[in-house]
Amino acid sequence: MGYKVRFVEPGRNYRMIRDEIDAAYFEVMSNGDLIDRGQLKRFEENLASFVGTKYAVGLNSGYDALHISLRAVGIGAGDEVILPAHTFVASASAIVNVGAKPVLVDVGKDFNINVDKIEEAITQNTKGIMPVHLNGYMADMVKVMEVAHQHHLVVVEDACQSLGAKMNGKGAGAWGLTGCWSFYPFKILGGYGDGGAITTDDPDVALFATRMRYNGEDRKTGEYHGHGFTCLLDNLQAAFLDIKLRHLPDWIKRRREIAQQYREGLSDLADLMLPHYDDTRRDHVYQNYVLRSKQGDFFSDYLQNNGVEVLIQFRKPYYKHEALKVENRGFPETEALSREVCSLPLNVEITDEEVGYVISVIRSFYGK
Ligand SMILES: Cc1ncc(COP(=O)(O)O)c(C=O)c1O
Repeated sequence: MGYKVRFVEPGRNYRMIRDEIDAAYFEVMSNGDLIDRGQLKRFEENLASFVGTKYAVGLNSGYDALHISLRAVGIGAGDEVILPAHTFVASASAIVNVGAKPVLVDVGKDFNINVDKIEEAITQNTKGIMPVHLNGYMADMVKVMEVAHQHHLVVVEDACQSLGAKMNGKGAGAWGLTGCWSFYPFKILGGYGDGGAITTDDPDVALFATRMRYNGEDRKTGEYHGHGFTCLLDNLQAAFLDIKLRHLPDWIKRRREIAQQYREGLSDLADLMLPHYDDTRRDHVYQNYVLRSKQGDFFSDYLQNNGVEVLIQFRKPYYKHEALKVENRGFPETEALSREVCSLPLNVEITDEEVGYVISVIRSFYGK
């Protein structure tokens, strides 16, 4: 169908910064700087400083950041890692693929792990907690770190959706042993293909990741320090991401403006739950504007049929996919939200008129 408002407009985003992107492309290509060059190093330095950590290590994907973080502390067979029941499947797959068991905990109204339920999931095999900062809003990391310290657990932050989000002024990805980032094209900082990174204050973890992304090799000495992977962030992608990172503070402001427009246009509709929260300690960066509609599919289908492209994440929670063999301990909030979630278009390319159109379609669904 011909949408009036697309969920994302990557071509439009490119045209906004075309001169800078094209210049970077020609510089990298004409110098032949394809693998592990200055652009990667520069981006890593700028990312670390943006997040507030000592190191950043560029990788191929958010998934790589997660499993390499777990491997860095030797989490594997027989170990358990706690994570939310509502997240993208890659969070759980990273745990399974190092040989450990994912132990799921229900989420709260903010879509993040319910911190009051973490302790009851801890067993003698628990080695780590993987909070996921979903949609651009951090999990309550004050509480997560408190529980982790008490029980001597490692914290690996899945921050793939929340670059720039903060709690008490401290950035997502700067609390745990590592912060894990995805630069998948439609992330708040998205490349033109897959990409990811680890941020950390721990020099050993940074070194481990730097070697593992290169098949375990120390590039200076040629020594292999273990069986690794091929998962280095491309130099060309790093050059593009570095440009976009410079725009990110302004782009986050714009995202907040749009979220505010949705709030003003929709907050009187009783059947909608909007993603605005009272906790003044945490700032939302609106990677996704996920609302809950009591009308579920009727609501999202109506938007789609009226030219508004929306994203549904997820009608079927990952623990209900049989092939994944993840233990379902019963997660009422995740069940409820999965029937109701709908993400509205929110990106830096969208115009105020388009936001107004989305609001008018939603109001017409509710007869307003
Ligand atoms: C919460 C979360 N975790 C992990 C990932 C995995 O990132 P990637 O697709 O870069 O592997 C993503 C993004 O896709 C994500 O949203």
